[in-house]
Amino acid sequence: MSRLAFLPIALFAASVAAQTTTSCNPLNSTACPDDSALGTTYNGTWDSSDTELNTKLWNVTAGTDDIQFTDNGLELVISESGDSVTAESTFYIFWGQVEVMMKAAAGTGIISTFDLLSDDLDEIDLEIKGGNKTSVSSNWYGHGNTSQYNGVDHAVDGPQDSFHNYTFVWGQEQLQWIIDGDVVRTVESASSGQYPQTPSRLKFGIWAGGDSTQPQGTIDWAGGATVWDDGPFVMTVKSIKVTDGSTNVTNYAYGDQTGSYESITSTAGESKAFKLLNKKTTTESAKQSWEGLSTGAKVGVACGIGGAFAIGIIAFCTFCLIQRRRGKKERKLADEAWDNNQAELMEYQKMMRSGAFAVSNTGRREKF
Ligand SMILES: *[C@@H]1O[C@H](CO)[C@@H](O)[C@H](O)[C@H]1NC(C)=O
Ligand SMILES: *[C@@H]1O[C@H](CO)[C@@H](O)[C@H](O)[C@H]1NC(C)=O
Ligand SMILES: *[C@@H]1O[C@H](CO)[C@@H](O)[C@H](O)[C@H]1NC(C)=O
Ligand SMILES: *[C@@H]1O[C@H](CO)[C@@H](O)[C@H](O)[C@H]1NC(C)=O
Ligand SMILES: *[C@@H]1O[C@H](CO)[C@@H](O)[C@H](O)[C@H]1NC(C)=O
Ligand SMILES: *[C@@H]1O[C@H](CO)[C@@H](O)[C@H](O)[C@H]1NC(C)=O
Ligand SMILES: *[C@@H]1O[C@H](CO)[C@@H](O)[C@H](O)[C@H]1NC(C)=O
Repeated sequence: MSRLAFLPIALFAASVAAQTTTSCNPLNSTACPDDSALGTTYNGTWDSSDTELNTKLWNVTAGTDDIQFTDNGLELVISESGDSVTAESTFYIFWGQVEVMMKAAAGTGIISTFDLLSDDLDEIDLEIKGGNKTSVSSNWYGHGNTSQYNGVDHAVDGPQDSFHNYTFVWGQEQLQWIIDGDVVRTVESASSGQYPQTPSRLKFGIWAGGDSTQPQGTIDWAGGATVWDDGPFVMTVKSIKVTDGSTNVTNYAYGDQTGSYESITSTAGESKAFKLLNKKTTTESAKQSWEGLSTGAKVGVACGIGGAFAIGIIAFCTFCLIQRRRGKKERKLADEAWDNNQAELMEYQKMMRSGAFAVSNTGRREKF
């Protein structure tokens, strides 16, 4: 941030939030790793039963201990000089939509942000200053060019007092910011400047632009000096929904060093995020197998309920005898099959006892 201290104050509104570094810039290297695609829709909601952000989907790079879960949602809480919280998605989208239900943090100099950021520093931003009760800002950058000044303010009534719906709709032709259903800004891809057009991940967080450790220019931009005694300062996120522009893709890659959308290639298949989000619970997979059983087999399972444990013990002894004659590797595979079958059998029994074969909502809901 210190290099900003040399810029005239008037320029801060445009430059303070820009990301200026990236671990591997595809404009400069042909050896950057591929980006993991989302390839589907992610719908994150949080309440007091949650204990952490799913680490397979989110990388918390600052303030892990300052994240709390309440029935209002995910809370990012900062209370003293030096505190900040940043979380970034492990997945990337290539065009798509991001919808956030958020109540920004109040407090002079406190900044709540949501951004889409690419490896070659394309950027789409939303920033809310805790000391301004009437407006929020949108901004964008291309190829990390901080000489582009694209910041615009939008009227919102009390962004720190209630939840609002902030949505980015990002396409090849245009980019829109939508607040509570109203399109407040449209940027055409043909606009002057480098239009954001490369796979991006979502990053959100809270920081104190008004902290006394910041350069005076940043403090002025943020709306003044933060008074920590007024804290803690809390940004609350009720939900985040992200839809990738492509489905059935596992990775995005830069085909050359132009940073053009035309150079981006993708690999077909189920992404890591897709597999995680569509993972079936044991109950769900038992239900699915059950539906596939013949009537005869169902009757067999039903009759076996009482004696299932006895049958299980006999089957297990037979299984052990067979195993003696097999190699270690085969045994491991057979053990897994045995475990899976047992898990399903137990699930059938549980469902039968509760008379619940036909129900569709007994599955444990995975929380993200
Ligand atoms: C590319 O690398 C050179 C040398 O390290 C550096 O000066 C330049 O800023 C880099 N360009 C980008 C776009 O990262
Ligand atoms: C997202 O999750 C919330 C809470 O579970 C639910 O109310 C909402 O319908 C979901 N939306 C979609 C599009 O799945
Ligand atoms: C999380 O972010 C840190 C800092 O940028 C990085 O070193 C680390 O590799 C990231 N971890 C994952 C799983 O992406
Ligand atoms: C809030 O931001 C708007 C737009 O920049 C500005 O006109 C207004 O004066 C600001 N209010 C405060 C209290 O800083
Ligand atoms: C960065 O943006 C400025 C303002 O639009 C422009 O004059 C300049 O040429 C751009 N720099 C690069 C490297 O594209
Ligand atoms: C948020 O706004 C977007 C764009 O108008 C809309 O599609 C979406 O349904 C809204 N989400 C919620 C939770 O209201
Ligand atoms: C996803 O991509 C794989 C690999 O090309 C293909 O085999 C599969 O049919 C695709 N699935 C869907 C649902 O399009």
